[in-house]
Parts: sequence; structure tokens; C-alpha cells
Amino acid sequence: MHILHIDSSIRGSDSVSRQLTASIVSSLTANCEASVTYRDLSGIPPETLAAEADGRSLSYVDEFLEADTIVIGAPMYNLGVPWRLKAWIEALAVPQKTFRYTASGPQGLAGGRHIIIAYACGGYHSGPTEDFVEPYLRAVFGLIGITRVDCVRAEGTKAAPGQLPQILEDAATCIAEITRQA
Ligand SMILES: Cc1cc2nc3c(=O)[nH]c(=O)nc-3n(C[C@H](O)[C@H](O)[C@H](O)COP(=O)(O)O)c2cc1C
Repeated sequence: MHILHIDSSIRGSDSVSRQLTASIVSSLTANCEASVTYRDLSGIPPETLAAEADGRSLSYVDEFLEADTIVIGAPMYNLGVPWRLKAWIEALAVPQKTFRYTASGPQGLAGGRHIIIAYACGGYHSGPTEDFVEPYLRAVFGLIGITRVDCVRAEGTKAAPGQLPQILEDAATCIAEITRQA
């Protein structure tokens, strides 16, 4: 198994999604022989992301296609994903590489991969008008043909700071379940 490990939180060592991605990757590598490529999007300059997103460089999409399992730290910032994560996703949607247009709509070309999302949000959000993180990620990975998407959710990280140990414990149970089947 080759794992691509992506972090996008701007909150450094305080980040909950970073803790979750680290524990997902360590659980996956404990269960089977795996190699890991790590990419931290938080410090990437806008011009680098722009070059990847407009196709002048294809290194992010090539790196993505080399992986069987992609673990993505996805914090909620203003109801959606951080802008650098959005730019990284733009770099993945490359016609003829990860999807193609057909008369009956787009067809995904990147299927067969497993995505594990580590979602963290400060409050509690649900429904199509409040949470643009998990539904967006499922839709966009579906567009490129990936339907095997699991999500580990840590909600209320700011609403109830005293509850953080419990939130992390619940997430750990979910991680154990997902990685056992990976
Ligand atoms: C710029 C910014 C915007 C945020 N917007 C939201 C929001 O819309 N809804 C929410 O529930 N929490 C929001 N939060 C709180 C984060 O979702 C929360 O801190 C979560 O733990 C972020 O993941 P991280 O710890 O990995 O950065 C925001 C935090 C930041 C820094």
C-alpha cells in the first residue's frame, strides 16, 4: 500500500485534524506494509498552488495517482475547506488524467482508491446549507471516480473544549474500525 498523507490546517500543533491524520496513518502502517508520502499544504505559497491548479505543473496530480490510500486533514474554516486544500483539489481535477467529459457527463478515471477524511470543526454543522466540507469532498472525489470515501469526524472542538478528550476518543474508535477494514 502507498499512502498519501495530506494536512491543511493552519493551526500547527493545536490542530485536531493533524492529530487525526497522524493517527490514521500510524494505524494503517501498523496493520500492513506501507510507504507514505507526506504533504503539508499549510505553508505552500499561492503561486505554487496556482501553477499546479492551472496545469503548468502536474506534480500534485502525479503524486496523488501514485497512492492507493489518501488520508486528508480537512478542517472546517467558514463552513468549507481551507483555501489551500481547495487549490490542491483543483490540481487533481485534470481532464484525461483523473476524469474525462463524455456525452453523458463526466467520467472518473481515478477509481479504485480509498480516501480517508479527517474532519474537524469547532461547532456542530449538518445539512446541505451548513456543511460544505464532507459533502464537497465526497462529490469532488466521486467526480474523479473515487467512491470509497470514509470520514472520521471530530465535531465541537471549540464548542466544548473540555470535551476534547472524549471527541478524540470517539474519533480513535472510528479510526480503528476504518483502518481494520483498509
Ligand atoms: C479561519 C477559521 C474559520 C473557522 N470556521 C469555522 C466554522 O465555520 N465552523 C466551525 O464549526 N468551526 C470553525 N472554525 C473552528 C475550526 O473548525 C476548529 O478549530 C477545528 O478544530 C479546525 O481543525 P484544525 O484544529 O485541524 O485546524 C474555524 C477556525 C478557523 C481558524
